[in-house]
Amino acid sequence: MRKNIIAGNWKMNKNLSEAKELIKGIKEGVLLEKINNTRIIVAPSFVNLLSVVKVTEESIIEVAAQNVHELNSGAFTGEVSANMLSGIGVKSVIVGHSERRSIYAESNELLAKKIDGALANKMEVIFCFGESLEDRTLGKQFQVIEEQLKSSLFHLPEEVFASIILAYEPVWAIGTGETATPEQAQEMHLYIRNLLKKNYNEKLSDNISILYGGSVKPSNAKEIFSKPDVDGGLIGGASLNSSDFLKIIESI
Ligand code: PGA
Repeated sequence: MRKNIIAGNWKMNKNLSEAKELIKGIKEGVLLEKINNTRIIVAPSFVNLLSVVKVTEESIIEVAAQNVHELNSGAFTGEVSANMLSGIGVKSVIVGHSERRSIYAESNELLAKKIDGALANKMEVIFCFGESLEDRTLGKQFQVIEEQLKSSLFHLPEEVFASIILAYEPVWAIGTGETATPEQAQEMHLYIRNLLKKNYNEKLSDNISILYGGSVKPSNAKEIFSKPDVDGGLIGGASLNSSDFLKIIESI
């Protein structure tokens, strides 16, 4: 049975003391009895990962990185490898976020290599994908999503899919305050699940958690998460404040 997951993407926010304050607030506020079958993940910036790993030791909160290089080592000034991340206790990594695709020109092919590198280091991957406003206006959203999944993910053998979390994030909803309607999210999540069924099998498709991301906040989380194929959310802005993040966790 797949799990619900609430993941907070802190992006390039929070210095060390702010990051510690935020993670302590989340850790103290999480009420175990209210988080039925739900995993909680936070993704701080690279420099704050180790401190957040230490604060969350022996808690149910897991720590993810926001990016990773595709290779394990080498002359790549400024980059960080999966080997380094797993070495400090980081269990998962976000790959394919729309900001990495658009601002840093990360292609579907590069993302496939990053996924392979992370999996080779036994890390879990939170793979993000989603259509632009233009794609949706042209009615191309399903085609675009299928292409993103096919070229970055569908080369993987079935056995490694237990280490993949999917995050559907329509680009037009990220950081804009505009959310997909619960019906739009459900429609796309079901489409994705059917693609998994077609390319792999029903068991795999039933077991994969598919998160929705894009302007999720305490006021809209419950309705979005109530949809049968939405297994939680990847939260940006509303994960930067422990009280909002905790409310979103409790709404699942
Ligand atoms: P947002 O970001 O919640 O601020 O829209 C979501 C994301 O970028 O993952």
